[in-house]
Amino acid sequence: MPQVHICEVGPRDGLQNAKHLMPTEAKKGWISALAAAGLREIEVGSFVPPKLIPAMADTAQIVAFARSLPGVKVVALAPNLKGFQRALEAGAHKVTFPVSASRLHSESNVRMTPEEMVEEVRRCAAHPHPGVEIEGAVSTAFGCTMQGTVPEDDVVRIAAALAEFCDCVALADTVGYANPAQIRRVFRKVKSEIGEKLEAAHLHNTRGLGLANALAAYEEGVRHFDSSMGGLGGCPFAPGASGNVITEDLVFMFESMGVDTGIDLQKLFAARGILVNGIPEEPIYGHTPVAGLPKGFRQQV
Ligand code: COA
Ligand code: ZN
Repeated sequence: MPQVHICEVGPRDGLQNAKHLMPTEAKKGWISALAAAGLREIEVGSFVPPKLIPAMADTAQIVAFARSLPGVKVVALAPNLKGFQRALEAGAHKVTFPVSASRLHSESNVRMTPEEMVEEVRRCAAHPHPGVEIEGAVSTAFGCTMQGTVPEDDVVRIAAALAEFCDCVALADTVGYANPAQIRRVFRKVKSEIGEKLEAAHLHNTRGLGLANALAAYEEGVRHFDSSMGGLGGCPFAPGASGNVITEDLVFMFESMGVDTGIDLQKLFAARGILVNGIPEEPIYGHTPVAGLPKGFRQQV
């Protein structure tokens, strides 16, 4: 049976852009419910200056908690060596670095040019990190709200540089500009340069094309997807960014196509209830949890 691997990024990408703070204990309850639904990889937070993103101030605590959940790969985002060291200290299993292909977004997000950021990740990769996976995520790979078009050659060049020292590389549609034809073309180009190191598609649903883009990536051979429960998400340093592709709908799409996600939809809906209780004022999205599962629908597992 075909399979895909879904990484839930809501606790990081979702909560970093939420208008309201989710208390630490509520985050723990939500992450436990996500794990119980079958999510085997969860990006639980980021190691950035707490002053910059207060919602991520408790990430070390959250990483320590998430490590206690059996079978869950605990991912954290870091923007520099200091963040990487904090992530290692906290015990993250995998650290992801945002390397924007757009100079303007890179400068706004990490105060470094794309080239400087590649060098920062190189420095981190050279720092001892036994057993910890490093992902280089090429942000704004399909366009940028500040720069506009992002040349595909820039994306290929940055992905190739990251592939030299990262364990895996992801392509991110940070501001939801991508369309399915572009997804196919850019994933194919990058794959022809770096092969199997190209792993995940990190897609945002800003213009409603999240699922269409995920399907296009799947048809291009991508088997790792980031998504966010309730469609929360967005980069606070990319104007106009909004939520990720919605986990509930992504899981439903794959399961109904006969692709095994390993995730139990009923339990996923239960986790959504816990998310809503933890941050009740925040608007959340998703079609499948509202409409319910079709009569006679059977999960792959
Ligand atoms: N975690 C905690 N503190 C950090 C830090 C980190 N990862 N990196 C730097 N700091 C601290 C420094 O120690 C310094 O503290 P001090 O003022 O007490 O001396 C202060 O922050 C400024 O450090 P500096 O290295 O000059 O950072 P900067 O102000 O140039 O900011 C980044 C650079 C990368 C830290 C910042 O732009 C960032 O965190 N960006 C990520 C934003 C983000 O999360 N975007 C969404 C996800 S893609
Ligand atoms: Zn994102």
